[in-house]
Amino acid sequence: MRTVTSVQAMQRLALQWRRQGKRVGFVPTMGYLHAGHVSLVQRARKLVGKDGIVVVSIYVNPTQFAPTEDLSRYPRDFKRDEKLCREASADFIFYPSDAEMYPGKSESLYSTYVVEELLSREMEGASRPTHFKGVTTIVAKLFNLVLPEVAVFGAKDFQQAAVIQRMVTDLNFPVKIVVAPTVREPDGLAMSSRNKYLEGPLRTQAVALSHAMLKAREAVKKSRSPLPASRLKQQLQKFIEEQPAAKVDYIAFFDPATLQPVTRVHRGTHMALAVFVGKTRLIDNGLLA
Ligand code: PAJ
Repeated sequence: MRTVTSVQAMQRLALQWRRQGKRVGFVPTMGYLHAGHVSLVQRARKLVGKDGIVVVSIYVNPTQFAPTEDLSRYPRDFKRDEKLCREASADFIFYPSDAEMYPGKSESLYSTYVVEELLSREMEGASRPTHFKGVTTIVAKLFNLVLPEVAVFGAKDFQQAAVIQRMVTDLNFPVKIVVAPTVREPDGLAMSSRNKYLEGPLRTQAVALSHAMLKAREAVKKSRSPLPASRLKQQLQKFIEEQPAAKVDYIAFFDPATLQPVTRVHRGTHMALAVFVGKTRLIDNGLLA
């Protein structure tokens, strides 16, 4: 496994692989890898086969963080990430610096962004208004540098995967997007690099997100007719906020194909939620089947 840090070297390699007819699978990440990320790398390997090339990018992208968010304290551990990538049979880590990805940004010499205008509006987009502009921009740049045939994203960030799929369709990127299931801790908490912030009782209380989804699923199963979304939201918010450190940011019920909110919840409705547990903002989502 090799680590590449310059954009020029990355793109030169990618063009070489293309000329050689190699299949390239790509997993973009912000590092501090966990079993969820590892599952994406393994999926990419399966998709391109043993003769294919698997690239993992590790880059904490500043443009997707608002000034008030956790950019400067976002957890990092490159040595550990390297080991996990090697064990998951990645071939290359792309590990660029800010100066490589956004040269001249502070001197206003960087000024091009990719914006998806529909699917990115609600949920994460409503709570974090500049977030998806940063995500689509960095993923577009990474696709142009790695030139993958297939890129693997996690269902943990359901809306992100939908926004990226739309960007790829709308802008005709020759990349297939694969979405892999959310990997969870034994108690149900979705794995996340941000779980590192959860100490002691906060870690215990964080299970409220996945428990709220179980509760919603049970309610849907039990009820003969669709449930009013507003009432279910209220009940789940109350349930979550029984945890002293938990504060709901949003709970959303929507059609997974369109991300359109629904007023009546039934089997096939998708649920997403964001909850502050102490200062840490956690998200989760799942199908109510
Ligand atoms: P990051 O949060 O590091 O996540 C990288 C990829 O791992 C994303 O596709 C995410 O959905 C997936 N992932 C995270 N936790 C997961 C879990 N528990 N199970 C399965 N997959 C999981 O998402 C980003 O980085 C960034 O926005 C990025 C796309 C890299 C652009 O900067």
